[in-house]
Amino acid sequence: MRLNILAQNKDSWDKVAHHFNGKDSLPSYGPFAQTEDELRLFEELDRKTVLDIGCGSGHSMKYMAGKGAGELWGVDLSENQIATAKATLTGLSPKLFCAPMEKDISIPKSYFDVVYSIYAIGWTSLLPETLQLIHSYLKPGGYFIFSWDHPLYPHLESENGIIKLAGSYQEEGMTHYPNFKGENAPVTIPQRKTSTYINELINTGFIIEAVIESNVPATSNSMKTEVSDRYYSLYKARKFPTTLIIKARKPNA
Ligand SMILES: C[S@@+](CC[C@H](N)C(=O)[O-])C[C@H]1O[C@@H](n2cnc3c(N)ncnc32)[C@H](O)[C@@H]1O
Repeated sequence: MRLNILAQNKDSWDKVAHHFNGKDSLPSYGPFAQTEDELRLFEELDRKTVLDIGCGSGHSMKYMAGKGAGELWGVDLSENQIATAKATLTGLSPKLFCAPMEKDISIPKSYFDVVYSIYAIGWTSLLPETLQLIHSYLKPGGYFIFSWDHPLYPHLESENGIIKLAGSYQEEGMTHYPNFKGENAPVTIPQRKTSTYINELINTGFIIEAVIESNVPATSNSMKTEVSDRYYSLYKARKFPTTLIIKARKPNA
């Protein structure tokens, strides 16, 4: 079952990859969310060894290179995303792997100063196993930062600006979307509660340092808020966080 989901999601990501070139990438943490320029969660990156989980088109890795990171590693399920990342990172000698984040491949253990994941971790079909791998990749004292859809956000529906709860936040499990990005691209995405992410990080041995339920960026403060029923809009983001961001550290041995 899980292998079927991974195979299906891989095919679909290969189809929709072109929609995501340079989207959901650092310094952005997510749609209508504060950016890294405001939140400053990453520490000094000069010469640091960094690993991107679900690296997509490679634009967050390019951001890391711009901050002086010494070694750039990335893993992604989609061959097309990896091909785009190679093009994005021309001249930067990245180490890129086309593989599911759930799988233990030849990524070294206790090697990375920083592991991060921008709008990708929620795709994992195996959260505890994936977090254990991420923990194993980090040096003691290293840290992990991720952003993902706020877990309540997919349950919000809006009609004429009135926001309602759809479905059940209580029910965790797989949700099937037959036409991801409007294409013939079926995907299955796990629904988890915020507490599930937090508790799995704790169970894995991480120390949680920051939990952020995004607010709108300061740059949007002067913008007029039009009523909008779009899935992501400034109107909705002013009322409810689009994005959950967590920073967690592997303790020093
Ligand atoms: C929104 S994109 C990420 C954008 C990227 N983090 C960036 O900074 O530009 C989500 C990515 O997750 C990848 N993905 C989905 N399921 C995955 C899995 N099980 N393992 C690894 N990558 C996965 C997709 O192929 C896609 O490239």
